[in-house]
This record gives sequence, C-alpha cells and structure tokens, in this order.
Amino acid sequence: MKVVKDISEARAEIKKARTAGKIVGFIPTMGALHAGHISLVEAAKKQCDFVAVSIFVNPAQFGPDEDFKKYPRVFKSDEKLLQKEKVDLIFYPSASQMYPDNFSTYVEEALLSKPLCGLSRPGHFRGVCTIVAKLFNIITPDIAYFGQKDYQQAMIIKRMAEDLNFSTIVKICPIVRESDGLAMSSRNVYLNPAERKDALVLAEALKLAEKSIKEGQTDAVKIIEEMYGFILSKKTARIDYVEIVDAKTLQEVEEIKQKVLIALAVYIGKTRLIDNVVVHAKSN
Ligand code: PAJ
Repeated sequence: MKVVKDISEARAEIKKARTAGKIVGFIPTMGALHAGHISLVEAAKKQCDFVAVSIFVNPAQFGPDEDFKKYPRVFKSDEKLLQKEKVDLIFYPSASQMYPDNFSTYVEEALLSKPLCGLSRPGHFRGVCTIVAKLFNIITPDIAYFGQKDYQQAMIIKRMAEDLNFSTIVKICPIVRESDGLAMSSRNVYLNPAERKDALVLAEALKLAEKSIKEGQTDAVKIIEEMYGFILSKKTARIDYVEIVDAKTLQEVEEIKQKVLIALAVYIGKTRLIDNVVVHAKSN
C-alpha cells in the first residue's frame, strides 16, 4: 500500500495502474474510518483491480459554526485499517495542496442540493462537489463508491458526474449500522453515554415510519408528525429536519405512492446526526 500526499505522486501511481490495464476503484473519505467506510472498500475490492482511498477533511464543506476544527483526525489508525484491507493507494493531501491561495473555482449542483441538508448547511454541497470533482480529476476512477448514509450527497455526486461528463461510474452502497441500529458515523465519537442511547431514536423513528408506510399509510404529514413526537420524547434531541421526499427528485411528497426517501437530521446534544431509509409504497 502506498501513501501519497502529493497530487503529482497520486497521478503517477494511477498512471502505473492504468498502464497495467487495471480497473481503478475509489473511495473518497474524511478519515476516522469505521465499518461503513470499510464496506465501501470491500465493494471496490470485489469489482476493481486497484483501490484508492482519499483521506481529506475538506474545509470547503464545513460552515463557519460547524465542527471542522474538532473533526476526528486519526491518520495512523486509518492507515492500519486500510493496510489490512489491502488497499493499493491512500491519497492524503494537505489543505494547501487542494486549496492553494489563488484557488477560486467551485462546482455547484443547483437542484438536488437545495432541500434537506442543503437548507441547514448552506454551501455544504458546493464544498462537497468541488472536492469530489477535484479528486475525480486526480484519481480518474472507473468506479467511485459512496454510502447511502449520505443519500443526498450520493445523488448529487451522481448528478454532477453525469452533468459534467466524468467517465466515473458512481455506486451507492447500503448503510452500515451498529448492532443496535445506530448508523455508523465518524461523528458518533462526540456522543456521551446518555446521548449515545438517545441517538438510537433516529433509526427507530425511521423504522416506525417505514412500518406505517408498509401498513398502507400514505399521508406523509401524519407520518412526520408521529416521528416528531417520537424523537422529541428524548431529552437531548432537537430536530433539524424530518422529511419524506421522492427518492429520485428529493422533492417533498404529500401522498406516498412511489419510492420515497425518509430522511432526518437530528441534534443529539450538540452533535448533528443524519440517517435515512428508502421505502417503496405498499402496492394496491
Ligand atoms: P465521510 O463522512 O468520511 O464519508 C465517506 C463515505 O463513507 C461517504 O460516501 C459516506 O456516505 C460513506 N459512509 C459514511 N458512513 C457510512 C455508513 N454508516 N454506511 C455506509 N457508508 C457510510 O462523505 C464524506 O466523507 C465527504 O463528504 C466526502 C465525500 C469525502 C467529500 O469530502
């Protein structure tokens, strides 16, 4: 496994792999790796001959009052995990490499970025699209792997890749959860033991909503109200949003009769967590 910090070195490694006729798989991350990230690596290992992982806490996607400074940075243990997975390349650039002083070009997806996390995190997806476009240009992957955990992000990246004619195929992999159901996240380390218990409310509220839909409930407002009540029964919980949207367009739905995304963002104490489920409406 090679670890490279330089863009030119990364390009050279990719060139070697390409010359050897290898299919290049890529997983962009911000590090503090957990089993969710590793599931993406495993999917890539199955489908590709050369697997690259980037680790970069991207300043452009954090708002001024967000957790950029305290975001966990644990490169040594990330490196060990990736070594065990037999990853071929870790790209671990510095912020000054990715955003030199004269940097002034950003990539913005203008539709799918608007609702859900786009409302509470202005500029977030612009930062995500910009860094992912840069990484795609450096690594030039055949296939890039993203998690459904960040459903909106994955849909936006798919749109961007199509709109900007990247030749990369974007694959979306299932959410990996702790044994009690909490979606794995690098931010879960912020939770104290009481908050960790309360954090289960996200996955449980989604299960409740899914069950209602499977039983034939089609009124989105009723389901959301039920979810609100359930979530707010936890003392440490504060809702950012709970939404039911069309799974493709991310537009709000009132009557559930298609494939929908139920997505939520909830603060548990000071930690903002997200989770989601895709549900097919019960067919009549
Ligand atoms: P990060 O939060 O490190 O996540 C990297 C990838 O891992 C994303 O595609 C994310 O959806 C996926 N992932 C995270 N938790 C997961 C889980 N529990 N199950 C399955 N997949 C999971 O997302 C980012 O970084 C950044 O925005 C990035 C795309 C790297 C751009 O900076």
